[in-house]
Amino acid sequence: MHMAELINPIICAIDTPEVSDATAIAGDVRKHVGAVKLGLEFFTANGAAGVREITNLGVPLFLDLKFHDIPNTVAKAIAATAGMNMFMMTVHTTGGQAMLKAAIDASDRVAQTTGKERPLVIGVTLLTSLDQDDISILGFSSTLQDQVLRLADLAQSAGLDGIVCSPFEISAIRKACGSDLKLIVPGIRPEGSAANDQKRILTPQEALNRGADYLVIGRPITNAPDRAGAAKAIAQSLR
Ligand code: C5P
Repeated sequence: MHMAELINPIICAIDTPEVSDATAIAGDVRKHVGAVKLGLEFFTANGAAGVREITNLGVPLFLDLKFHDIPNTVAKAIAATAGMNMFMMTVHTTGGQAMLKAAIDASDRVAQTTGKERPLVIGVTLLTSLDQDDISILGFSSTLQDQVLRLADLAQSAGLDGIVCSPFEISAIRKACGSDLKLIVPGIRPEGSAANDQKRILTPQEALNRGADYLVIGRPITNAPDRAGAAKAIAQSLR
């Protein structure tokens, strides 16, 4: 069982390919969030050296690269993350059981070599950009919700620490998977803030009430004129 916990459940999504912008955002918010999230656009543009510019600020990192490949390649990619000091990372559950187990084993080995705690390995189930038509075209015969639950169960039985899910899937996944599986939840909007392109949103407190462990929040913080103030206000809105 993995022991790392963040005291503050807010993870600020930094969605930019620019090191200077990302450093400015991370510097502004780091005292008011538990971690920051960097994804494919940032990593593709800046690599591990860019990532270290952010972790050097002392803020925990969620590196959201959604690995999906044969087990050997995913294991090697995870071995190659050893210098990036992440708190949490993602893999696609549709990579299958052997790939998921290889990911956990590889992150255990990284932890042994670095002497640090192994990062939480989190599964992506179905991308929320897919709808029922899309998953039928892909050849999945179940409903979208059943497919998500099936993949959540696969993630859990392979030993993953948690999964990413939408606010409206929290209750069903908690019921099916119990309380140990960490639920990482985007699609969060504080009272009164713009939805942007998110269609199904909950407030931070509502998502925690339903059983979310971590809240991924981007634009309500990163687009605010006072980013530190926006992050602080969200943190203070949580009981
Ligand atoms: O700006 P916003 O709060 O909408 O950012 C949410 C973050 O969570 C973005 O980095 C987005 O890519 C990510 N995300 C999401 N919905 C998912 C999975 C990830 O919004 N289903």
